[in-house]
This record gives sequence, C-alpha cells and structure tokens, in this order.
Amino acid sequence: MSIQTDLWRGEHASFRRLLDLLEAQIGLFHAGAQPNYGLMLDVVAYLRHYPDRFHHPKEDAAVQRLLGREPHAAGLLQRVGGDHRVIEHSGWQLQEQLEAVAAGALLARDAVESTAATYAAYYRQHLAREERVLFPLAERLFDGSDWAAVEVAVPSGRDPLFGAQVEERYRELKRRIALEGACGCSTEEPHGDERGPRAAKRRAPRPRAADRMLNLRAAEPRRLRE
Ligand SMILES: [Fe+2]
Repeated sequence: MSIQTDLWRGEHASFRRLLDLLEAQIGLFHAGAQPNYGLMLDVVAYLRHYPDRFHHPKEDAAVQRLLGREPHAAGLLQRVGGDHRVIEHSGWQLQEQLEAVAAGALLARDAVESTAATYAAYYRQHLAREERVLFPLAERLFDGSDWAAVEVAVPSGRDPLFGAQVEERYRELKRRIALEGACGCSTEEPHGDERGPRAAKRRAPRPRAADRMLNLRAAEPRRLRE
C-alpha cells in the first residue's frame, strides 16, 4: 500500500457511489419511469470534471513510469491508459446527450439509456482493472522518488464534490449521496409508502411509443431555470 494508492482507492469508492446513482436512474429508464436527468447530468459533469482532469492523468503518469519496467504487463497497462481516453470520450457523449435533452431537443429514450448504461458498465470495469493491475504493480515497484514524480506530473485539483468544500452545483448531489449512505436505499422521491427503483418499476406502466422520446424541458422545468 502507499499513500497515493490509498487515495486512489478512496476516490474509486466515491466514483462507485456515483455510478450506483447513475445506474439507479438507468433502472428507472428501463422501467419506463421518469429518471432525474438533472441528477444524471451532475454525476456525469463531476466525473468529467474531477476524475478526467486530475485522477486519471495522475494514474497515466504512473502507467508511463511502469511501462518500461514491466514489459510483460505492458498490454494491460496500455489498456488502463486507453480506458481513460474511452471514458473521457463516452462521458463527453453522454453529457452532450443529456444537455441536448435539457435544451429541449427530442432524443430517443433508448439512445440515452444505452449511452448511460455503457458508460457506467465500462467505468466499473476500468476501476476494477486498475485495482487489479496498476495499483499492485505501482505498490511493488515504486519508491519514494517515483511517487514524487507522479505527484508533480499533474497538479492536484480541488475535488468539488467529495472535497472539503462542496461547489454549489453539486450540493444536491452530495445530499443524495448522504441519504443513500444513511439508509442504504434509493433516494428516489417517495410515492406513498414506497421508495426506490423497484417500487418505481412496480408503479410505472410501460411507456407508449410517443413517450419514449425525452424532453427534459418538459420534465424538469425547475432545474432548467437554475
Ligand atoms: Fe482510477
């Protein structure tokens, strides 16, 4: 273990909590119920902001230092680096789709659901790959000077969601995460005595064809004014 890999594992735990929230919303899509698009946008905006700009580049610096030392692991290490590019691009695509819906564009419901589900599944596989390949190798082979080089390779950014100060944009997301952690259940708005995606699935009728088009402007006028 090292201080840096401890930090990375902790950040991975935070990212997984966001993927849990994203997948809960995808579950609502799947059930034909109304997802919280604003929440999805906040999750993706954060993942594009902090991990893409600070967490992944620092891991890339570790990958670069390891590539010359463990030739037998070069393929796996390059895959980790490639994952970062895929995640960045697919996160951008998902954010574009959600923002287009927020701007009033009509998009096929299935397209947004598919992009979000693929993004979340790929992200989870990537986190597991790093924990299986990158972190143990770095822990075994890096000394203090390697970690110092990784540290200075990328400036440390302020985490706007899990850091000491939560940015205004992420306050609602932080509240949802806290609720989720406190009760271990979904934070979907209650309907009667029922909560959560399973309850939503029981409540929701399958959508008619005309309903399988998204329009966030109609669905969430409050957020659009923010
Ligand atoms: Fe990572």
